[in-house]
Amino acid sequence: MSQPPSPRRSARVTTATIARMHADGERIAMLTAYDYPTARILDEAGIPMLLVGDSLGQVMLGYDSTVRVTMAEMLHHTKAVSRGTEHALVVADMPFLSYGVSSEASLENAGQLLREGGAGAVKLEGGERSARTIETIVRAGIPVMGHIGLTPQSIHQLGGHRVQGRTREAARQLLSDALAVQQAGAFAVVLELVPQQLAAAVTERLRVPTIGIGAGAGCSGQVQVITDVLGMNADFTPKHARHYVELHDVIKAAAEAWRADVVAGAFPGSEQTVDMDEAVLDEVLGRTELDRPERMEQGAGIPLDRDL
Ligand code: KIV
Repeated sequence: MSQPPSPRRSARVTTATIARMHADGERIAMLTAYDYPTARILDEAGIPMLLVGDSLGQVMLGYDSTVRVTMAEMLHHTKAVSRGTEHALVVADMPFLSYGVSSEASLENAGQLLREGGAGAVKLEGGERSARTIETIVRAGIPVMGHIGLTPQSIHQLGGHRVQGRTREAARQLLSDALAVQQAGAFAVVLELVPQQLAAAVTERLRVPTIGIGAGAGCSGQVQVITDVLGMNADFTPKHARHYVELHDVIKAAAEAWRADVVAGAFPGSEQTVDMDEAVLDEVLGRTELDRPERMEQGAGIPLDRDL
Protein backbone atom coordinates (compact mmCIF):
# COMPACT_ATOMS: atom_id res chain seq x y z
CA MET A 1 0.00 0.00 0.00
CA SER A 2 1.49 3.38 -0.94
CA GLN A 3 2.00 5.93 1.82
CA PRO A 4 0.59 9.45 1.62
CA PRO A 5 3.23 12.04 0.73
CA SER A 6 4.78 14.07 3.54
CA PRO A 7 5.44 17.37 1.77
CA ARG A 8 6.62 19.16 4.90
CA ARG A 9 9.27 16.63 5.96
CA SER A 10 12.20 18.96 5.40
CA ALA A 11 11.20 21.71 7.84
CA ARG A 12 10.37 21.56 11.53
CA VAL A 13 6.61 21.36 12.00
CA THR A 14 5.25 24.31 13.95
CA THR A 15 1.80 25.31 15.13
CA ALA A 16 1.60 27.37 11.92
CA THR A 17 2.16 24.17 9.91
CA ILE A 18 -0.64 22.49 11.85
CA ALA A 19 -2.95 25.45 11.17
CA ARG A 20 -2.07 25.25 7.47
CA MET A 21 -2.71 21.50 7.34
CA HIS A 22 -6.07 22.11 9.00
CA ALA A 23 -6.95 24.91 6.58
CA ASP A 24 -6.04 22.59 3.68
CA GLY A 25 -8.39 19.94 5.04
CA GLU A 26 -5.50 17.54 5.72
CA ARG A 27 -6.21 15.15 8.61
CA ILE A 28 -3.56 15.46 11.28
CA ALA A 29 -1.86 12.41 12.81
CA MET A 30 -0.34 12.55 16.28
CA LEU A 31 1.23 9.68 18.25
CA THR A 32 2.64 9.56 21.73
CA ALA A 33 6.37 8.99 22.15
CA TYR A 34 8.32 8.69 25.35
CA ASP A 35 11.87 7.79 24.33
CA TYR A 36 14.61 8.63 21.83
CA PRO A 37 14.56 5.55 19.55
CA THR A 38 10.79 5.53 19.14
CA ALA A 39 10.74 9.28 18.50
CA ARG A 40 13.36 8.83 15.75
CA ILE A 41 11.32 6.14 14.02
CA LEU A 42 8.04 8.09 14.25
CA ASP A 43 9.79 11.22 13.00
CA GLU A 44 11.23 9.26 10.05
CA ALA A 45 7.71 7.93 9.36
CA GLY A 46 6.53 11.51 8.89
CA ILE A 47 4.25 11.79 11.94
CA PRO A 48 3.91 15.59 12.20
CA MET A 49 3.16 15.81 15.94
CA LEU A 50 4.60 13.70 18.74
CA LEU A 51 2.97 13.93 22.14
CA VAL A 52 5.03 13.20 25.21
CA GLY A 53 1.83 12.28 27.00
CA ASP A 54 1.58 11.82 30.72
CA SER A 55 0.21 8.39 29.76
CA LEU A 56 3.95 7.86 30.21
CA GLY A 57 3.04 7.10 33.82
CA GLN A 58 1.02 4.02 32.97
CA VAL A 59 2.55 2.73 29.76
CA MET A 60 6.24 3.33 30.50
CA LEU A 61 6.61 3.73 34.26
CA GLY A 62 4.03 1.24 35.54
CA TYR A 63 2.01 3.71 37.64
CA ASP A 64 -1.71 3.15 38.11
CA SER A 65 -2.67 6.62 36.81
CA THR A 66 -1.28 9.77 35.23
CA VAL A 67 -1.75 11.60 38.54
CA ARG A 68 1.59 10.26 39.80
CA VAL A 69 3.69 11.66 36.95
CA THR A 70 6.05 14.45 38.01
CA MET A 71 7.58 17.43 36.19
CA ALA A 72 11.00 15.81 36.51
CA GLU A 73 9.75 12.67 34.74
CA MET A 74 8.03 14.68 32.01
CA LEU A 75 11.16 16.73 31.45
CA HIS A 76 13.39 13.66 31.31
CA HIS A 77 11.24 12.00 28.62
CA THR A 78 10.54 15.22 26.71
CA LYS A 79 14.29 15.79 26.35
CA ALA A 80 14.74 12.28 24.94
CA VAL A 81 11.89 12.70 22.43
CA SER A 82 13.15 16.14 21.38
CA ARG A 83 16.62 14.71 20.74
CA GLY A 84 15.01 12.05 18.57
CA THR A 85 13.11 14.41 16.26
CA GLU A 86 14.18 16.61 13.40
CA HIS A 87 10.79 17.40 11.91
CA ALA A 88 7.89 16.65 14.25
CA LEU A 89 6.37 19.21 16.57
CA VAL A 90 6.97 17.87 20.08
CA VAL A 91 4.05 18.55 22.42
CA ALA A 92 4.74 17.91 26.11
CA ASP A 93 1.97 17.17 28.58
CA MET A 94 1.92 19.34 31.67
CA PRO A 95 1.59 16.88 34.57
CA PHE A 96 -1.02 16.99 37.35
CA LEU A 97 -0.86 20.19 39.44
CA SER A 98 2.06 21.59 37.43
CA TYR A 99 -0.50 24.13 36.16
CA GLY A 100 -3.63 25.78 37.46
CA VAL A 101 -2.38 26.28 41.00
CA SER A 102 -0.79 29.67 40.34
CA SER A 103 -0.09 31.47 37.08
CA GLU A 104 3.58 31.84 38.06
CA ALA A 105 4.01 28.09 38.53
CA SER A 106 2.03 27.28 35.36
CA LEU A 107 4.22 29.61 33.35
CA GLU A 108 7.45 28.42 34.92
CA ASN A 109 6.61 24.74 34.29
CA ALA A 110 5.38 25.31 30.72
CA GLY A 111 8.54 27.33 30.05
CA GLN A 112 10.73 24.57 31.43
CA LEU A 113 9.21 22.00 29.06
CA LEU A 114 10.19 24.25 26.14
CA ARG A 115 13.47 25.68 27.45
CA GLU A 116 14.96 22.51 28.93
CA GLY A 117 12.77 19.82 27.39
CA GLY A 118 13.01 21.13 23.84
CA ALA A 119 9.25 20.82 23.25
CA GLY A 120 7.53 23.12 20.76
CA ALA A 121 4.22 23.24 22.65
CA VAL A 122 2.56 22.03 25.84
CA LYS A 123 -0.76 20.32 26.43
CA LEU A 124 -2.94 20.70 29.48
CA GLU A 125 -6.29 19.35 30.55
CA GLY A 126 -9.54 21.15 31.25
CA GLY A 127 -11.98 23.41 29.43
CA GLU A 128 -13.49 26.49 31.05
CA ARG A 129 -11.66 25.77 34.30
CA SER A 130 -8.27 25.92 32.54
CA ALA A 131 -9.01 28.80 30.15
CA ARG A 132 -7.20 31.44 32.22
CA THR A 133 -4.15 29.24 32.59
CA ILE A 134 -4.08 28.61 28.84
CA GLU A 135 -4.36 32.33 28.20
CA THR A 136 -1.48 33.12 30.57
CA ILE A 137 0.80 30.55 28.96
CA VAL A 138 -0.12 31.50 25.38
CA ARG A 139 0.46 35.20 26.16
CA ALA A 140 3.98 34.32 27.20
CA GLY A 141 4.56 32.92 23.70
CA ILE A 142 4.15 29.24 24.51
CA PRO A 143 1.78 27.31 22.20
CA VAL A 144 -0.85 25.32 24.09
CA MET A 145 -2.92 22.32 23.04
CA GLY A 146 -6.13 21.89 25.05
CA HIS A 147 -7.55 18.55 26.21
CA ILE A 148 -11.22 18.06 27.09
CA GLY A 149 -13.72 15.22 27.37
CA LEU A 150 -12.13 12.49 29.43
CA THR A 151 -9.32 14.21 31.29
CA PRO A 152 -7.33 11.42 32.97
CA GLN A 153 -5.77 13.72 35.58
CA SER A 154 -9.31 14.18 37.00
CA ILE A 155 -9.95 10.45 37.10
CA HIS A 156 -10.69 10.56 40.83
CA GLN A 157 -13.44 13.09 40.17
CA LEU A 158 -14.76 11.44 37.02
CA GLY A 159 -14.90 8.02 38.68
CA GLY A 160 -13.27 6.06 35.86
CA HIS A 161 -12.41 6.01 32.18
CA ARG A 162 -15.95 6.73 30.95
CA VAL A 163 -17.24 8.28 27.75
CA GLN A 164 -17.94 11.96 28.40
CA GLY A 165 -20.66 14.27 27.06
CA ARG A 166 -23.49 11.77 26.72
CA THR A 167 -26.17 13.75 28.56
CA ARG A 168 -27.59 17.09 27.40
CA GLU A 169 -25.82 18.98 30.21
CA ALA A 170 -22.53 17.20 29.70
CA ALA A 171 -22.67 17.73 25.92
CA ARG A 172 -23.39 21.45 26.38
CA GLN A 173 -20.53 21.69 28.85
CA LEU A 174 -18.18 20.01 26.38
CA LEU A 175 -19.12 22.51 23.69
CA SER A 176 -18.55 25.42 26.11
CA ASP A 177 -15.24 23.89 27.15
CA ALA A 178 -14.09 23.59 23.53
CA LEU A 179 -15.00 27.21 22.79
CA ALA A 180 -13.34 28.42 26.00
CA VAL A 181 -10.10 26.61 25.15
CA GLN A 182 -10.11 28.05 21.62
CA GLN A 183 -10.93 31.52 22.94
CA ALA A 184 -8.03 31.25 25.39
CA GLY A 185 -5.65 30.79 22.45
CA ALA A 186 -5.08 27.05 22.17
CA PHE A 187 -3.83 26.03 18.72
CA ALA A 188 -5.62 22.64 18.85
CA VAL A 189 -7.73 20.66 21.26
CA VAL A 190 -7.74 16.96 22.11
CA LEU A 191 -11.19 15.39 22.45
CA GLU A 192 -10.92 12.19 24.48
CA LEU A 193 -13.66 9.57 24.78
CA VAL A 194 -16.51 11.64 23.37
CA PRO A 195 -19.43 10.30 21.27
CA GLN A 196 -18.61 10.74 17.59
CA GLN A 197 -21.63 12.93 16.79
CA LEU A 198 -20.72 15.38 19.53
CA ALA A 199 -17.04 15.39 18.55
CA ALA A 200 -18.04 16.13 14.92
CA ALA A 201 -20.32 18.96 16.07
CA VAL A 202 -17.53 20.46 18.19
CA THR A 203 -15.11 20.14 15.26
CA GLU A 204 -17.53 21.98 12.95
CA ARG A 205 -17.85 24.84 15.41
CA LEU A 206 -14.14 25.39 16.06
CA ARG A 207 -11.59 27.23 13.95
CA VAL A 208 -8.73 25.27 15.50
CA PRO A 209 -8.27 21.54 14.81
CA THR A 210 -9.70 18.89 17.10
CA ILE A 211 -7.49 15.86 17.69
CA GLY A 212 -9.61 12.88 18.69
CA ILE A 213 -8.92 9.78 20.71
CA GLY A 214 -12.01 7.63 21.05
CA ALA A 215 -13.98 10.50 19.51
CA GLY A 216 -14.74 9.14 16.03
CA ALA A 217 -13.55 9.97 12.54
CA GLY A 218 -15.17 13.41 12.41
CA CYS A 219 -12.29 15.12 14.24
CA SER A 220 -9.66 17.13 12.38
CA GLY A 221 -6.99 14.65 13.41
CA GLN A 222 -6.34 11.60 15.55
CA VAL A 223 -3.99 10.78 18.40
CA GLN A 224 -3.14 7.33 19.71
CA VAL A 225 -0.89 5.96 22.40
CA ILE A 226 2.06 4.38 20.58
CA THR A 227 2.05 1.17 22.66
CA ASP A 228 -1.56 0.56 21.58
CA VAL A 229 -0.72 1.05 17.90
CA LEU A 230 2.23 -1.32 18.26
CA GLY A 231 0.31 -3.98 20.19
CA MET A 232 2.70 -3.98 23.14
CA ASN A 233 0.16 -4.74 25.83
CA ALA A 234 -1.22 -8.24 25.44
CA ASP A 235 -3.64 -7.85 28.37
CA PHE A 236 -5.64 -4.81 27.33
CA THR A 237 -6.55 -2.87 24.20
CA PRO A 238 -8.82 0.18 24.55
CA LYS A 239 -11.92 0.12 22.33
CA HIS A 240 -10.63 3.14 20.41
CA ALA A 241 -7.28 1.55 19.50
CA ARG A 242 -6.19 -0.68 16.59
CA HIS A 243 -2.98 -2.72 16.65
CA TYR A 244 -0.89 -2.29 13.50
CA VAL A 245 1.59 -4.91 14.64
CA GLU A 246 1.70 -7.38 17.56
CA LEU A 247 4.97 -6.10 19.00
CA HIS A 248 4.38 -7.87 22.33
CA ASP A 249 4.55 -11.20 20.51
CA VAL A 250 7.41 -10.10 18.26
CA ILE A 251 9.54 -8.92 21.22
CA LYS A 252 8.72 -12.00 23.28
CA ALA A 253 9.60 -14.38 20.43
CA ALA A 254 12.87 -12.51 19.81
CA ALA A 255 13.80 -12.64 23.52
CA GLU A 256 13.00 -16.37 23.69
CA ALA A 257 15.06 -17.09 20.57
CA TRP A 258 18.02 -15.09 21.92
CA ARG A 259 17.90 -16.84 25.28
CA ALA A 260 17.80 -20.23 23.54
CA ASP A 261 20.88 -19.26 21.49
CA VAL A 262 22.76 -18.17 24.64
CA VAL A 263 21.89 -21.41 26.43
CA ALA A 264 22.94 -23.46 23.38
CA GLY A 265 26.21 -21.49 22.97
CA ALA A 266 25.02 -20.26 19.56
CA PHE A 267 25.28 -16.59 20.52
CA PRO A 268 27.58 -14.79 20.00
CA GLY A 269 28.58 -16.22 16.61
CA SER A 270 31.66 -15.30 14.58
CA GLU A 271 29.94 -12.15 13.19
CA GLN A 272 29.43 -10.81 16.69
CA THR A 273 32.98 -11.62 17.83
CA VAL A 274 36.33 -9.83 17.42
CA ASP A 275 39.77 -11.46 17.02
CA MET A 276 43.14 -10.19 18.17
CA ASP A 277 46.61 -10.75 16.81
CA GLU A 278 47.75 -14.18 18.10
CA ALA A 279 51.33 -12.92 18.45
CA VAL A 280 50.19 -10.18 20.81
CA LEU A 281 48.24 -12.72 22.83
CA ASP A 282 51.31 -14.97 23.00
CA GLU A 283 53.29 -12.07 24.41
CA VAL A 284 50.59 -11.26 26.95
CA LEU A 285 50.35 -14.86 28.09
CA GLY A 286 54.10 -15.44 28.16
CA ARG A 287 54.30 -17.92 25.30
CA THR A 288 57.13 -16.33 23.32
CA GLU A 289 60.78 -17.25 22.95
CA LEU A 290 61.64 -14.65 25.57
CA ASP A 291 59.48 -16.47 28.06
CA ARG A 292 61.51 -19.69 28.02
CA PRO A 293 62.65 -20.47 31.61
CA GLU A 294 66.36 -19.86 30.95
CA ARG A 295 65.60 -16.43 29.45
CA MET A 296 63.26 -15.65 32.36
CA GLU A 297 66.12 -16.27 34.76
CA GLN A 298 68.05 -13.56 32.93
CA GLY A 299 65.09 -11.23 33.59
CA ALA A 300 64.09 -11.02 29.90
CA GLY A 301 60.55 -12.22 30.06
CA ILE A 302 57.19 -10.79 30.94
CA PRO A 303 54.90 -12.12 33.70
CA LEU A 304 53.31 -15.51 33.00
CA ASP A 305 49.64 -16.32 33.72
CA ARG A 306 50.57 -17.59 37.17
CA ASP A 307 52.23 -14.27 38.05
CA LEU A 308 49.31 -12.11 37.12
O1 KIV B 1 -1.16 11.34 27.82
C1 KIV B 1 -1.63 11.00 26.74
O2 KIV B 1 -1.23 10.03 26.11
C2 KIV B 1 -2.73 11.80 26.20
C3 KIV B 1 -3.44 11.27 25.01
C4 KIV B 1 -4.36 10.20 25.42
C5 KIV B 1 -4.15 12.35 24.28
O3 KIV B 1 -3.04 12.81 26.75
